[in-house]
Amino acid sequence: MISENFNKLFEAAKKVRESAHVPYSNFKVGAALLVENDAIVVGCNVENAAYPQSQCAEASAIGNLVSQGFSKIKEVVVIGSGSLLCSPCGGCRQRLREFASLETPIHMCNSDGHLKTSTLKELLPDSFGPENL
Ligand code: THU
Repeated sequence: MISENFNKLFEAAKKVRESAHVPYSNFKVGAALLVENDAIVVGCNVENAAYPQSQCAEASAIGNLVSQGFSKIKEVVVIGSGSLLCSPCGGCRQRLREFASLETPIHMCNSDGHLKTSTLKELLPDSFGPENL
């Protein structure tokens, strides 16, 4: 399930993760999205003193994707902190659903490497997406 793009995505997520603004949780996350033309779009988490205004790495990356004129997510790498799985939160699973297919692989990693890959369908079964409208 690990693709030839995995290493490029992993390195991009690892790099952007260092930019995370996490004074409250100290939990850095980096996300890298493979998009059209095999371009890579990245994002990190951005926390806020008003805690609920914090933004996940995946949400930052998706904002960058739209800003750069892309609209398709073909593959995702998320790198969290620590040794446990950093899986996208519920809200970010739905955000990914807007631009990814149900078969899109989501590689969950820590800084040392790959931990688990799931498809979006596995992470978000019976999901509601654009074609449901
Ligand atoms: N976080 C992400 O950026 N992505 C995830 O997939 C899980 C959690 C962030 C939110 C918050 O800044 C920190 O990790 C701790 O929850």
